[in-house]
Amino acid sequence: MQYNEKMLKHFYNPHNQGSIKNADTVGQAGNPICGDIMKIYLKIDKNIIKNIKFETMGCAAAIAASSVLTDLAKGKTIQKAALISKDDIIKEFGAVPEVKVHCSLLATEALKEAINNYQKK
Ligand code: FES
Repeated sequence: MQYNEKMLKHFYNPHNQGSIKNADTVGQAGNPICGDIMKIYLKIDKNIIKNIKFETMGCAAAIAASSVLTDLAKGKTIQKAALISKDDIIKEFGAVPEVKVHCSLLATEALKEAINNYQKK
């Protein structure tokens, strides 16, 4: 298994890592296979994601995927952000090792959960 350069770049220098105090919503997803956990924090204004941060207790691919996901989601409406799929993340990287595809899914699930929680309010 090999990570490509873009994945390594996001792993070594992740974008939007951390948490948001007074976030409008938070979502969490876990992977039952590896036990890794991801949390996404959102600040939303007029349906637009103004700020997004992540905390990932997970593998290098999960951290890189979270970083790319936050870049893709920032500035989008929550409706559009909810449609971001693991395939969009994989497309950003160019390729993801087969055994690491589920790690990209974790990021999108945490974002969807955060958006669901917001819409339930
Ligand atoms: Fe668990 Fe990657 S191995 S998220």
